[in-house]
Amino acid sequence: MRRTHTLFLAAFSSLAGLLAGCDGGKAAGNEILIGHVASMTGDRASFGTSSDKGARLALEEINASGGVLGRQLKLLTENNQSKTGEPKLAIKKLISSDHVVAVLGEVASSASLEMAPVAQDAQIPMVSSGSTNPRVTQKGDCIFRVCFIDPFQGMVMSKYALGKGWKKVAVLTESTSDYSVGLTETFRKHFTENGGALVAERTYAKGDKDFSGALAALKAEKPDAIFLPGYYTEVALIARQARQAGIDAPLLGGDGWVSNSLIEVAGPHIEGGCFCDHLVTDGFKAKFKAKYGEEPDSMAALGYDSLEVLADAMKRAGTTDGRKVRDALAATKDFPGASGNITLDKDRNATKPAAIMTIKDGKFVPLSVVQP
Ligand code: PHE
Repeated sequence: MRRTHTLFLAAFSSLAGLLAGCDGGKAAGNEILIGHVASMTGDRASFGTSSDKGARLALEEINASGGVLGRQLKLLTENNQSKTGEPKLAIKKLISSDHVVAVLGEVASSASLEMAPVAQDAQIPMVSSGSTNPRVTQKGDCIFRVCFIDPFQGMVMSKYALGKGWKKVAVLTESTSDYSVGLTETFRKHFTENGGALVAERTYAKGDKDFSGALAALKAEKPDAIFLPGYYTEVALIARQARQAGIDAPLLGGDGWVSNSLIEVAGPHIEGGCFCDHLVTDGFKAKFKAKYGEEPDSMAALGYDSLEVLADAMKRAGTTDGRKVRDALAATKDFPGASGNITLDKDRNATKPAAIMTIKDGKFVPLSVVQP
């Protein structure tokens, strides 16, 4: 009896599925598929989970207001586990097996650099949420980003240091990250051209846990400040070990610091640290909090914007055809994003203001906004 009941239910639900299939816009087969390559687990998990939460908030809003071109959007997130090599496999799968019409991601520049040639070859638009290394969008005319680039944030932090009178800065760079290496170079350029000197430089690799040797070398040069253009995972450990080694120089960084985990892991050791961040509008903060019960970080705002800007381009293109959506993306102007207004320039980058943030009483606090 029980079995018959189950069978009946199964038959009924597949019938309902078939009926829904005839129901225009909401039909599963009629959805517009969009891929998202994200580090949902591993060393950079905070980047992927935040950008995915942001993108899914945009998805919900877009679909609730009728979707795009009369169709609902479906977001397929591929977890690259924060591992080198995986972003490339993930975007290949999304394009070849899932047949997505566009791809969002990645956050980390090295991951986007792996993905971009695949998107370009397939003529599938790719919109990176947070990759700031200039080379990402240079990979081809189908590659876009909704954030500013590293020459800008390098200059912002260099000016900040110079403005504080810190002329001797030491740098600890993640040699395995295109973002970190590039940000060191843009910082160096501005800083040394404007009277500053990099008095000590050391590198580390992703996943390193012991920075004592490098920190001892930096300490020996008695720097006025230490620039840490890396990601939150290692920066938290570096901050802790620096303070424990008796280094009290101020710590500076870029958007790679963005994660609550930085404060959770570094605790009091990261107090007073300053870094360059993307903006987050109050309206987005409120919406995000209502949905997830937590404050968004800037990565969530950029994830939201990556889907919003893509959906807007598809609407203007009137099609999901890759080339036409690309052309519409390239024409994005004054789009009101969660991370500020977005205009994509001829190099497919967004020119936007940055926020200088500090960590005070265990919280991220804005210090000032720097215009481009
Ligand atoms: N800008 C970093 C990169 O290019 C990624 C990042 C963006 C991290 C925004 C945090 C917030 O690798």
